Amino acid sequence: MRRKLFIKTYGCQMNVYDSERMAALLARHGFERSDRLETADLVILNTCHIREKAAEKVYSELGRLARLKQRRKARGEEMTIAVAGCVAQAEGALMLERARCVDIVVGPQSYHRLPELLARRARERGAVLDTDFPAESKFDELGVEGGAPGVSAFLTVQEGCDKFCTFCVVPYTRGAEMSRPVAEVMREARLLVERGAKELVLLGQNVNAYHGMGPDGREWNLARLLYALAEIPGLVRLRYTTSHPSDMDEELIRAHGELAPLMPYLHLPIQSGSDRVLAAMNRRYRAADYLRLVEALRRVRPDLALSSDFIVGFPGEEEEDFQATLALVREVGFAQAYAFKYSPRPGTPAAAMRRQLPEEVKSRRLQELQALLEEQTRSFHAAQVGRLLPVLFERPGRHPGQLVGRSPYMQAVHVCDRELRIGDLATVEITGYHPHSLAGRVVRPH
Ligand code: SAH
Ligand code: SF4
Ligand code: F3S
Repeated sequence: MRRKLFIKTYGCQMNVYDSERMAALLARHGFERSDRLETADLVILNTCHIREKAAEKVYSELGRLARLKQRRKARGEEMTIAVAGCVAQAEGALMLERARCVDIVVGPQSYHRLPELLARRARERGAVLDTDFPAESKFDELGVEGGAPGVSAFLTVQEGCDKFCTFCVVPYTRGAEMSRPVAEVMREARLLVERGAKELVLLGQNVNAYHGMGPDGREWNLARLLYALAEIPGLVRLRYTTSHPSDMDEELIRAHGELAPLMPYLHLPIQSGSDRVLAAMNRRYRAADYLRLVEALRRVRPDLALSSDFIVGFPGEEEEDFQATLALVREVGFAQAYAFKYSPRPGTPAAAMRRQLPEEVKSRRLQELQALLEEQTRSFHAAQVGRLLPVLFERPGRHPGQLVGRSPYMQAVHVCDRELRIGDLATVEITGYHPHSLAGRVVRPH
């Protein structure tokens, strides 16, 4: 009998990728994916630890799950609860104490052991825990079978991080930086494209630090990998995320000018515009380095749309540091960006720094920065009106006959057109815009 699997995913795209891989692996062990929590035999929460709010959400969800598990037990039904991802890795055994309903805690590098952990849970009394960083790689076991990929598919090529920014949990939850070998990435990419993907989004916590072993016995950088991927017949678009400014090498910058499938959009987190704060964050670059990088990128690709991440209210951030961030934002001009209030994370150096800022200061700065970023997004969107843009259509829209695709610059584009199909790449005249999307109509040659 096939058992039912429900997965809820929090956090970054790498978790989305991992959830798909776990589902594919468990499909081989008799689990069928379901979107109904109430009847699931196995529930996996794939969690995120990046900010306090993200981690707290997991515990409130576990509270709800505990009650559901009780009710089902009373009816003689069994429900296994597994917690995966970065909260699992960070909390480990502590999680089993804080949430008694949890049966399995599995860290991000041990997913391939899930079938074995499930068997152990069924055999033994008490919960099971696996937060190792095993020598064998989860990628060897996880497989890519399962449901067909979307028009745009994620492909994790790099994982972990050695940068140790003082605010960040990722080096602790995902472990040391590692790159998948080129041949393995190419094999998975070809398979995804054969099965219908038109766009590949290469993923890594630090994707531009990629240095995978090539078939020639040498390490390849991300630029070289992108050139090889661009040769795959049927692949029309390439993107990659997330990049660290210090790892943008010359070849990668050049690729943005030369490589047609590489889309003119780059998420390049800066975090702050103040050198003093950047140093305290251990970001290893100054604001001027970032500006020079942007200039170099725009020289090869003048229409490049930039996105970024910002943290406001880092310990010791003065008003003038914050003003430096606003000034940098004005100077660069972002197509879109994310801003967060600094959230102290247990075990990170910044959490122990003196001069943690009061909540009101963080909130006010966040509001001010977000208002500026929204204004920039609005003017970026407004500037697209009247332009003809190639749009790759990915999914149905909310209204009948509507499809949603992406512009080269990453904005969602809504179009109503009866002849249009998911997977089509069409030329669209942009006719209007909203805060988070563009609207347009397909332009067909006469
Ligand atoms: N590897 C990427 C980012 C990974 S985390 C990089 O180097 O930029 C995604 C974003 O979450 C970060 O860019 C940062 O802006 C935010 N973030 C990470 N830790 C945080 C914390 N403790 N408080 C608030 N925001 C945080
Ligand atoms: Fe975290 Fe990114 Fe810094 Fe790595 S480079 S520690 S993932 S913010
Ligand atoms: Fe969150 Fe872990 Fe990703 S902390 S952002 S799920 S790497």
